[in-house]
Amino acid sequence: MAKYRICLIEGDGIGHEVIPATRRVLDAAGFDAEYVEAEAGYEYYLDHGTSVPQATYDAVENTHATLFGAATSPSGEKPAGFFGAIRHLRQKYGLYANVRPTKTRPVPGAYENVDLVIVRENTQGLYVEQERRYGDTAIADTVITKDASERIGKFAADLAMKRSGRLTVVHKANVLPVTQGLFLNTILDHAKTVDGLNTSTMIVDNAAMQLVRNPQQFDVMVMTNMFGDILSDLAAGLVGGLGIAASGNVGDKFGIFESVHGSAPDIAGQGISNPTATMLAAVLMLDHIGDHETARRIDNAVNKVLVEGPRTRDLGGTAGTEEFTNAVIAALA
Ligand code: NAI
Ligand code: MG
Repeated sequence: MAKYRICLIEGDGIGHEVIPATRRVLDAAGFDAEYVEAEAGYEYYLDHGTSVPQATYDAVENTHATLFGAATSPSGEKPAGFFGAIRHLRQKYGLYANVRPTKTRPVPGAYENVDLVIVRENTQGLYVEQERRYGDTAIADTVITKDASERIGKFAADLAMKRSGRLTVVHKANVLPVTQGLFLNTILDHAKTVDGLNTSTMIVDNAAMQLVRNPQQFDVMVMTNMFGDILSDLAAGLVGGLGIAASGNVGDKFGIFESVHGSAPDIAGQGISNPTATMLAAVLMLDHIGDHETARRIDNAVNKVLVEGPRTRDLGGTAGTEEFTNAVIAALA
């Protein structure tokens, strides 16, 4: 019997390319796993009227971790019975911390010496998706609780203490003192109790500018859900783009690992997507479940191919998904 059980969810769009590519790399690296393939997302919804079937819940709950591709959410409409699969799974399983490491990799155009982690609160804020419309007025709720702020603040502080000891709380409490203020002050109250933690605060618009001008100043950054969504794509852009940015959704019990990017409908089905982000999400997953040796092997192999090529188009090369994946597998040997 295999040592680990892993749930694989391709989802939509390029999820059908990057997940199989990553599985090939996991197999070639000798990862001792049995896979449970599960379905979720917009394509599943169109065929079955729901975004996530029961079998997928069972698969997530009965495996050591889940590797997720991407799921489409159509813009400007919410068809009856549709819900965003990944946001739903994050909430259902209390995956309160969305951890998004941004580290310089050897690719063209990347900023030098960036090594920061965005910790995005993953269950609340504007992403509770409570919207209503009264005639020509539309209203969205944002939900911030003390408990959830404390939980993410503690997670981010613990992570900072394992790194350089620097934590930046990113907020907009100048304009939204009630909601953003609760988030900010709850985290600062906790931070004061952590010996040796060097905490600073930054208003989110300035944080966006500082990330572009001087990203090397940051180590761990913690923020509410939508700010984290936006700034993590910005941070990905500093070090090579969405093709290489990985993330983990973690809670007390389960973990779902995925790229930062979405289903990329503009390139889906052409075999040109960059699977690096999902391969590096698999590295985060392996570290999470304790297989550090396989994690390092895959990380090193991916890095070697990023240096030596072939590179995918988003990184200035001409390789397709398969050619890149074959090169990673060759680099493992
Ligand atoms: P996106 O992240 O899918 O794509 C943005 C741009 O980056 C596109 O030009 C795309 O071609 C490129 N790109 C993304 N990943 C790439 C890769 N691996 N290799 C090469 N190029 C890559 O974001 P977009 O287009 O704004 O959203 C598309 C759909 O994805 C939407 O329905 C959105 O709701 C969904 N989405 C889902 C996420 C998830 O499942 N976690 C996250 C972000 C968006
Ligand atoms: Mg996003």
